[in-house]
Amino acid sequence: MHLGVLFPSSQLTVWADSPVGSHIALESFTHLARTAERGCFDFLILADHPRQAEHLGEFFELGVAGEPDQITLLSAVAASTSHLGLVATVNATFNEPFDIARRLSTLDRLSGGRAGWNVVTTSDAATGANFRRGGYLPHADRYRRAAEFVDVTRKIWAGGRFEHHGPQFSVSGEFAAPPSPQGTPLMLQAGMSEQGREFGAAYADVVYSGCKGEAGRAFYRDLRPRFARHGRTPKVMPGVSFVLGDSPEEARENARAARLQEVCPRRALWYLERFWGRDLSTCDPDGPLPDLDPDLTTAPDPVARATRIEKWRALAAEQRLSIRELVLKLTDPKPFTGTPRQVAAAMDDYVRGGGSDGFILVPRSAPRGLDEFVAKVVPELRDRGALRPEYSATTLRGHLGS
Ligand SMILES: Cc1cc2nc3c(=O)[nH]c(=O)nc-3n(C[C@H](O)[C@H](O)[C@H](O)COP(=O)(O)O)c2cc1C
Repeated sequence: MHLGVLFPSSQLTVWADSPVGSHIALESFTHLARTAERGCFDFLILADHPRQAEHLGEFFELGVAGEPDQITLLSAVAASTSHLGLVATVNATFNEPFDIARRLSTLDRLSGGRAGWNVVTTSDAATGANFRRGGYLPHADRYRRAAEFVDVTRKIWAGGRFEHHGPQFSVSGEFAAPPSPQGTPLMLQAGMSEQGREFGAAYADVVYSGCKGEAGRAFYRDLRPRFARHGRTPKVMPGVSFVLGDSPEEARENARAARLQEVCPRRALWYLERFWGRDLSTCDPDGPLPDLDPDLTTAPDPVARATRIEKWRALAAEQRLSIRELVLKLTDPKPFTGTPRQVAAAMDDYVRGGGSDGFILVPRSAPRGLDEFVAKVVPELRDRGALRPEYSATTLRGHLGS
């Protein structure tokens, strides 16, 4: 199976956990990267957050750490690793192809062919205010722009003179960056709508999906004919979390305790406030859903938002759920839970059963959230013949066979 690891978001981190360290120090990134490299993972991936998260018009206080630039960070991580792929999430909505082509090509060169690009479109309107193009594009236009963005970038990477005139970009020039080992960095795609799936089938080497379990299997079944239509065979790797224990019971207890920490009473209210568009701090998190109507004036799609809230009201009423219990249910990451052997078996079975080609692991915390997995689950995966015992290639494309 193929394995990646995502540096976890500071907004989901339980800061009170004792192993939690800095989310901005270079040592945190290098520690996670080196741990993944010991496990012969395919890549480390960093998310793209060009704007601090906001909450009811204020900076979200859990985004305390700030959001460092991912390509710069990966260049630094390249110096303390030798084989691990380095994937930067970069949005195609607000950037410019030439700039991204140059920076990713440089990362590829500095790292000896280990660069990857997770192409996203960004569904966050506030982000647009940072950029010249401003605002934010209608959904379908975001994918039209992304496709043309990648087309232009590939023309630039082909080297020498480039020329492109289309609806989104009109550029010509000379690519000045030196040639890079992979030529074209590995492409990932994360976005699950109809347009997102088509874009992934046409362009991606790896589809980074958000669904697991039965939903993940259905997602892959839906993608296969799309891949065939494009004559391509991208890998599918869902983002998953894991909770380990020395016994099955201990793992379940650890998982339950972790969830209660993550969805503490205050976070449960924050979660609902994002959808209600209102201050709900006077509500009791262990009480029923707010009677208050949501304020949908700033919602990107008010009709969809209202429908979703009605569904939650019905679910909470039917199962007699408090606010916190509802949020626990809605945000359940369904982690692989068990002893190292059980977790290895469950992951292996899922891949062998055609559910995915591997996983992008999302540890609960940085920098040490992957330590136990690599120490205990990786040997089990190797014993099962599910994971490479050592790297057989030096480039990221080499690891993925693409
Ligand atoms: C697993 C996953 C990871 C994503 N990571 C990011 C990210 O780091 N930054 C970002 O701006 N958007 C990210 N996105 C958002 C997508 O780019 C996209 O804008 C969003 O999912 C809406 O597209 P869709 O309707 O096709 O799903 C991610 C999406 C998924 C599914």
